[in-house]
Amino acid sequence: MSMKNINILAVSDIESSTLQVLLPKMSAIRGKIDLLISCGDLRHDYLSFIADALNIELLYVFGNHDLYQKKSAAQYKVDSYGIPVFFPKKGFPGTNLNGKLIQCGKCTITGFEGSRWYNGQGIQYHEKEMLSSVRKTIKKIRLRKIIGKIARQKKIPFFVVSHAPVQGIHDLDDQCHRGFSCFKKFIDKIQPVLWLHGHIHQPSLIKNQISVYKHTTIVNVCEYRFISVSETGKIRVSHQFQKI
Ligand SMILES: [Fe+2]
Repeated sequence: MSMKNINILAVSDIESSTLQVLLPKMSAIRGKIDLLISCGDLRHDYLSFIADALNIELLYVFGNHDLYQKKSAAQYKVDSYGIPVFFPKKGFPGTNLNGKLIQCGKCTITGFEGSRWYNGQGIQYHEKEMLSSVRKTIKKIRLRKIIGKIARQKKIPFFVVSHAPVQGIHDLDDQCHRGFSCFKKFIDKIQPVLWLHGHIHQPSLIKNQISVYKHTTIVNVCEYRFISVSETGKIRVSHQFQKI
């Protein structure tokens, strides 16, 4: 493992008993994870526990179940799929990546929250709404690139974090779990090195958990993944920190 790699712990959708047991014991990991990323649908307390164990700031997007506005808790204790709806506390720890462009030392990251619209009870977007977010972010990136060129900054890798998948890659046929087609347009235009997503928490329903589309490696995080990105853009993904 080169010192120049970017090491990521990504979590999503399912609380991992493995991480809960191992992290407090694995002092070797402390200081070696550069980024802790949540792709959504996880409880505030669980995320805080991991961030504390690693002593690192959390970067996150909300999933469709992370209701944090407008609705009352009594009204939506479970959604129409019978899945609990979470209400992150005020002051949810870390940085919300949604629609932002964050410079994190050796990389730049952006994020897109929520899922496709399916019943309106949660963080859900129609394709048109997500397209609008995607376009705004592309504009920001292009502006940043122009500024970067002027400042002669070294080209640094670009990562994307979403809750929903990219349409046609790791997604399912139903309205809730279908991916956004505008995410593909984003990849075509920006060519990020890495795209992490959640939402597809039944991995047996899809053929691959890791796919490459053009120059972008797309990972269905589902529970947790350790990911390492080398300086040359080589990506390793594993459930074991030692293997990345
Ligand atoms: Fe979800």
